[in-house]
Amino acid sequence: MASPADWRFFPLLLLFGYVPCCIPAEKSWLQPFDLLYSAGIHAFFQGSWSQSRDYLQQALHSYSLLKKVKVSCQAQCQRETPFHVSLKDLGFMDVVLQRSECLEHCERLQLGPPTRHKVSSLVHKEFQRREPYNFLQAAYFKLGQMDAALTAAHTFFVANPQHAQIREDLGKYRNIQGVRWDNARDLETPPHWEAFEEGVSHYNVQNYTQAILRLETSLKEAFMSLDECRALCEGTQEEKSHAEEIQRQVYEIIADWYVEVLKCRQACAIEIARKPGQKLPVHDFIPTHFHLLHSAYAEVSDGAAAVETLLTYLLFYPRDDSAQEKLQQYRQRFREEEGARARENVNAYIQQSLGEKRLIFYAMENLDISFEDPDAWTPEENIPEVVKNRLRAEKQKRMEAEQEAERTAEEAQRGPLPFEGPRVTLDSHQLNGSQRVVLDGVLTWSECQEILRLARTPAGSGGRRSPHTPHELYSSLSMLKAVQLTGERALATPGVRLFLDAGERSRRIVESYFRTDAPLHVSFTQLVCRTALEGKQEGRVDLSHPVHADNCILDPEGRECWKEPPAYIHRDYSAVLFLNDNFEGGDLFFTDLDAITVTAEVRPTCGRLAAFSSGGENPHGIHAVTSGRRCAIALWFTHSSEHAEKERKEAEQLLTQMEVTSPQDGETVEGSMTRRSSTLSESKNPLGKKQRVSSMEHVRLTREEL
Ligand SMILES: *[C@@H]1O[C@H](CO)[C@@H](O)[C@H](O)[C@H]1NC(C)=O
Ligand SMILES: *[C@@H]1O[C@H](CO)[C@@H](O)[C@H](O)[C@H]1NC(C)=O
Repeated sequence: MASPADWRFFPLLLLFGYVPCCIPAEKSWLQPFDLLYSAGIHAFFQGSWSQSRDYLQQALHSYSLLKKVKVSCQAQCQRETPFHVSLKDLGFMDVVLQRSECLEHCERLQLGPPTRHKVSSLVHKEFQRREPYNFLQAAYFKLGQMDAALTAAHTFFVANPQHAQIREDLGKYRNIQGVRWDNARDLETPPHWEAFEEGVSHYNVQNYTQAILRLETSLKEAFMSLDECRALCEGTQEEKSHAEEIQRQVYEIIADWYVEVLKCRQACAIEIARKPGQKLPVHDFIPTHFHLLHSAYAEVSDGAAAVETLLTYLLFYPRDDSAQEKLQQYRQRFREEEGARARENVNAYIQQSLGEKRLIFYAMENLDISFEDPDAWTPEENIPEVVKNRLRAEKQKRMEAEQEAERTAEEAQRGPLPFEGPRVTLDSHQLNGSQRVVLDGVLTWSECQEILRLARTPAGSGGRRSPHTPHELYSSLSMLKAVQLTGERALATPGVRLFLDAGERSRRIVESYFRTDAPLHVSFTQLVCRTALEGKQEGRVDLSHPVHADNCILDPEGRECWKEPPAYIHRDYSAVLFLNDNFEGGDLFFTDLDAITVTAEVRPTCGRLAAFSSGGENPHGIHAVTSGRRCAIALWFTHSSEHAEKERKEAEQLLTQMEVTSPQDGETVEGSMTRRSSTLSESKNPLGKKQRVSSMEHVRLTREEL
């Protein structure tokens, strides 16, 4: 609350002969909503639920009454001191002062001294975000007033759909017996939203009569919201510190204050166009109404209204050629409608808004203020050149800030890592893409060595020509082969256990980090080594693995990715777990949809996991390995349980059995692994290993190596 000696008002108050002493103190004015709100919160934290509920209800009531008074005073003073000011008008300051005096007088009669209801912008924002409803729903809940709790909760939720706690609370209400779910109402959303959305849906199904009714309602309500929003701009600005104000001239303060009011009013065009709970406003909200309306009226052959609404649209965009053409058509078609005019209230709104913009632009040229023009229709010639440049620069800055905020929001969406050890080294933003991450520390050095030993076994080393390049040898080991190997030797190789567990570890990281909405299964695991062929590297220009996407067929020319067979469309996420770095080349890289523009590169090293979604947003390839041998575990994950890797389960059973019979072999690794990934406690299968292995022989390796 402001003190009566509020400096910003001080000069005005003196000018208007405001004398604090003479206000009748006993008059029962509206209680300031911020005081009521803070009393409500105080009671809430004391656990006085009914008191808290009452204060909060009163706060909301006071808030809405205050708005009503301001709106009606605004209308009254508009009539008394019409505001048509031009810059040349020497009486500008006079008009501003007169208008202020009128408003202040009007409000003082109904609300008390003007400082009583001056509220910090923080509290205003909380009311705009509907915070009081969140306290209120909890208070109702404690008092057992379930229907009221539900309505308050719903009202808060509509404006805060991402709010985790309210979603949880609403979930609780859902399960409480006797709560009438369909009673949930939204007490605050301005009525124009419902009308607008219904109007647009009717329009889309060519139900023009209905569309017209709803869109006209929406328009009427939207203008009322606009008036209310604009009326609230006066007297709600942040206070400056006294020290700051004392340095300035009275007229400077007034000018500054007035520019703030104008900016606030301008921002209302955005305010009414943003549906509660939505981030972005509907572009060109008011003009859109007229755009839809004129076609709808023409469809129902209401010529007068069609011409009228089209002319009104043209007030915003007088140089819209197609609209001008339409106008000629309408005039020919509906000959009798020569007399139709654009709507006067809209014309008045446009003129007033342009007047405000002119003043703001003038101030921008002379004072150091910033401004975001909410309207797309402001005519170019109304904007001074200097201001244009500044607006452009400011827009650029805002966009950068928004990107930054988006990035932070995306980061906030990231889930925690499921266990200690790994850490995120590069996020999507640093990788210049989306749904990408690089983590380090997923395997320790000795774990990498153990798995690499697998790659040196006869089954693993193979060393045939790479299917992708004549300059490299290629060897791969699938889960199936790894287990067969184990079976043949009848021992639980620590490397096999690790190979198995590394996949599970990666699965858990991906599931948790990307907060996948459904559980992920490993669908395929493969240990792949690529060895540079000595003497065959000279002048090499090809890749170790060409650019591709994992679950769709990349069409670089069309800049599309077709998610259809033969692509592995069940794949949802992909990962590469690197095992070594003692080779040259072989970096993993991501590209744009064009398969050419490299957006990020990842250098392999032991224990580094590169994980990403498998779709067209993440085309990737591998640079040529020009010396040495590059080994990594490739993993694909799926939400579809029928595509879960069957060999994985069998391998788990077999290994567990063998580890029981020959503990010394698996001990070191198994101990460390089971601590870290707890989901590996499959029931012990009593099947003999012979039987197991022979049954595996029937499992055909149907999947291509990638
Ligand atoms: C069109 O409007 C009528 C009411 O006039 C309604 O009964 C009908 O369902 C609407 N059609 C569609 C497809 O919305
Ligand atoms: C992302 O792009 C920037 C600029 O092109 C580049 O410097 C950076 O290395 C890229 N990030 C990665 C991980 O490659």
